[in-house]
Amino acid sequence: MKALDVKIPKAPYTIHIDNWNLDLAKDIIQKHCQEEKLYIITNTTVKKLYQKKLRPLFSPNLKAIWITIPDGERYKRLSSCEKIHEELILKKANRSSLILALGGGVVGDIAGFVAATYMRGIAYIQMPTTLLAQVDSSVGGKTGVDLKAGKNLVGAFYQPKAVIVLTRFLKTLPKKEIINGLAEVIKYALIADNHIFYYLDTHYENIFKHDTQTLDKIIHLCLSIKANIVAKDEKENDQRALLNFGHSIGHAIELLKNYKNIKHGEAVAMGMVYASELSSSLGFLAKNDLLAIKLLITKMGLVTAWPSFTKTAYKIALLKDKKAQDENIRFICLTKIGKAHIEDLSLNTILQCLKR
Ligand SMILES: NC(=O)c1ccc[n+]([C@@H]2O[C@H](COP(=O)([O-])OP(=O)(O)OC[C@H]3O[C@@H](n4cnc5c(N)ncnc54)[C@H](O)[C@@H]3O)[C@@H](O)[C@H]2O)c1
Ligand SMILES: [Zn+2]
Repeated sequence: MKALDVKIPKAPYTIHIDNWNLDLAKDIIQKHCQEEKLYIITNTTVKKLYQKKLRPLFSPNLKAIWITIPDGERYKRLSSCEKIHEELILKKANRSSLILALGGGVVGDIAGFVAATYMRGIAYIQMPTTLLAQVDSSVGGKTGVDLKAGKNLVGAFYQPKAVIVLTRFLKTLPKKEIINGLAEVIKYALIADNHIFYYLDTHYENIFKHDTQTLDKIIHLCLSIKANIVAKDEKENDQRALLNFGHSIGHAIELLKNYKNIKHGEAVAMGMVYASELSSSLGFLAKNDLLAIKLLITKMGLVTAWPSFTKTAYKIALLKDKKAQDENIRFICLTKIGKAHIEDLSLNTILQCLKR
């Protein structure tokens, strides 16, 4: 098992990465568990696929208590958290209990928020099961739920005690979910590591074949970038904002499409192409880099063209995004493949590439 430390000053923890080492996973869980039971929060899909396979984690000394929510982003709501809180009470969870968040980003965000709020905060461990969650959402302690008004509007920064990334979970993940996660992988490549970019370019077919070595390498590289950034800037004051590359326009697209028929990764891919176009038109990014980015995104099975809503519609959507401040937006631009920077841009400047 490989380990990466997330050196957040007041809440450091370790990310453990392995293909399927359940013995070690069990040791890590036991190290953080003060009781003879573990509260596993998951969804129906993941439970069905993995309840039996995860049996070696448990013994008479460590009983599994399953709490299951329905599958889907539409359940990432306060009402689900309340149900889980009530179930935790019924199942006698107390302030020393430990939660295991077992699932993709939806389960991770909900379980993390439940852990942050149950009895004013109890410990939790992330065990992510999608590519997106393994490279992104399980690390950094952003937890929360959606409101009718928009995504992730209620939440807390609340760090897990450990993150256990077992890459074999990805074997059962549908291809469209792999592609969804790849958008975030490309994001890391673009903002911080051109090596990942060129590695993806030559190895993407292996990813779709679920080749363990390729996936392990990519996940490890992405996580080391994320661990490094969140350790420097836990609460997104500056550095961490770089992780939002492609997300301003991406979130606007998700919102304009009412979160229907578009996955987060698909929207982020369009947003990254948009941000690259803009970076190029503002003179930050070379044309060759822009072309290479579009080519890689297409190879990954993602679409590069953003939907043709009006400029006004995009304006309203951008302002609704919680990162917007007045008419100016902190926008992440690319300097070159592997390097990004923050620009304070007006909405008109940002939207100047819409017609391309
Ligand atoms: N907290 C953060 O920092 C952060 C970062 C990025 C995204 N997010 C959030 O993450 C969420 C998206 O996460 P996601 O893309 O993982 O979606 P998801 O959690 O909905 O999972 C996608 C689908 O895959 C299924 N699934 C999960 N693991 C599986 C497996 N091993 N085999 C087969 N099927 C499996 C799920 O049941 C679901 O149907 C969004 O709500 C987003 O806001 C949070
Ligand atoms: Zn994202």
